[in-house]
Formats: sequence, structure tokens, C-alpha cells
Amino acid sequence: MSDQHPFGIDVNTPNVARIYDYMLGGKDNFAADRQAAEQILKAFPESREGVRLNREFLGNAVRHLVSEAGIHQLLDIGAGLPTRDNVHQVATSVLPEARTVYVDNDPVVCVHGRALLAGAPTVAMIEGDLRSPGEIWSDAVETGLIVPAEPVAVLLVAVLHFLDDPYAEVAKLREMMAPGSYLVLSHLSSTEDRGKDTDRVRQVYARTPSGVVPRSLKEIKEFFGDFEILDSGRFISAGALRRFQILGWAGVGHKV
Ligand SMILES: C[S@@+](CC[C@H](N)C(=O)[O-])C[C@H]1O[C@@H](n2cnc3c(N)ncnc32)[C@H](O)[C@@H]1O
Repeated sequence: MSDQHPFGIDVNTPNVARIYDYMLGGKDNFAADRQAAEQILKAFPESREGVRLNREFLGNAVRHLVSEAGIHQLLDIGAGLPTRDNVHQVATSVLPEARTVYVDNDPVVCVHGRALLAGAPTVAMIEGDLRSPGEIWSDAVETGLIVPAEPVAVLLVAVLHFLDDPYAEVAKLREMMAPGSYLVLSHLSSTEDRGKDTDRVRQVYARTPSGVVPRSLKEIKEFFGDFEILDSGRFISAGALRRFQILGWAGVGHKV
């Protein structure tokens, strides 16, 4: 990406979507994002593997839910910049008619998403903020791709830690999802033995518009409310989960 952005984007302020893109080896980032990412990597050299494992978990969860759990529609909130094996690509590779609605509050992410999806009838990208779950839901339903009476997979992958206190918003989403739905999430965790490194990461993200809030495993699991938490081993190998847990936690809950 050139450092002069045609949409007047502030290229000097690091941005969470672009930091993540850089960690994944993408090209949609600026010097400020790369610098921030390198500082995070200094504190947590495991981060590059962590983002790769996060994508692996996401892909496996989508593949499993579409091929084995009867899920035909997915709502991916905090979708991020397009990369390899995007959610709709994984979903349609196992079920061609699977429908995906992507949501992100970053207008640049939405521009890139729409460019990738142009002309695809079973996919949409909407600009929306997780802090307004009711609006996201009605916009997603309006696309015609999300049918509220049918089970849906709602993906909140590597996004909740960018919000201060999103428990009420996630509860609202859980409430709107039909019985039989699934909630897929991953989240940065706070580990006591890496307190200083975590503080350094907090300082880096404090320069982005959102900041970061790592949470304990107990706090992360509270996002599932009364959903049944499935065994993570179905979506990520034991070895990969062990390595991923240096940074965070990933899991899937079922609304029974
Ligand atoms: C680290 S990326 C994760 C991308 C993808 N979900 C994944 O795990 O590969 C986080 C994304 O969440 C988006 N995001 C952050 N806060 C958000 C909010 N309040 N509402 C919607 N999207 C948000 C960012 O713009 C960014 O694209």
C-alpha cells in the first residue's frame, strides 16, 4: 500500500486491521502499522504464529460447522482485511450455497472486502460496529443472506479484545440467534507470568483508535453465557491449542 491514501486515511496512526494484516504477511499496511507490529513481536515473538493459528482455528471451525453441523449462514463480525481462505471461501468450498455476511467498523476494510466480493450473490460486506449489535443484525437480515429463524454461526474472532466491555452486546447477539446456532470466538488472554510483555502490547495498542483489553480465560468464557462450550479439540489440534494458549483462547459455543 502506498503511504498516500486516496480516502484521506490517517496513515501515521497504527490500525488494528492493518497490524494484523502485516502479521499475516499481507500488503495492506503502512509504516506505522509495521512498526507497531514489530513492537508487539518484540514483546511476544509468538504473535506471528498466533495469528496463523487463529486463522487455522477460524477455518476449521467454519468448515466443521458448515459440513457437519448444518450451518448454512455465517455472520462474521470484525472480519478484517481479506486474506487467504476467507470465511465465505471456506464455507462455499464445502457447501456452494452457504451464505456469509461480513461486518467491520473500519471503512477501509469494507472497501477492500467489497472489491473482493463484487458480484458474488451469496456474500455481503456491511460497515457496522459491534457496539450496536441490533443495527448489525437488522442490516445483515436486510441483505437477504441472514434468515433470523435459521441457525447461524456468529463469528467474533480476534475482535472482542478491542472493546472495553462488550458483554451486553454479545448477550444481545446470543439472544437474537436461533436455537441450534453457534458462536465462534477467539480472544487475547492476560497471563500473569507475562505481565510486563502484556503491558508493552497494551502500550502499542493504546496508539490505535481502539486499544486492547486482554482477559482471563474465565472472563473470555463468560461471552458464551448459557451456550454449551464445545471441545476446542474439534477445531484445533492439541499441540496448536497449547501454542495458541500462550496468547489467547479460541472456542465454539452452541445454543441448544
Ligand atoms: C485482528 S482483526 C481480526 C480479523 C478476523 N476476524 C480474524 O480473526 O482473522 C480485528 C478486526 O476487528 C475490527 N473491529 C475492531 N473493533 C470493531 C468493532 N467495534 N466493530 C466491528 N469491527 C471491529 C477491526 O477493524 C479489524 O478488522
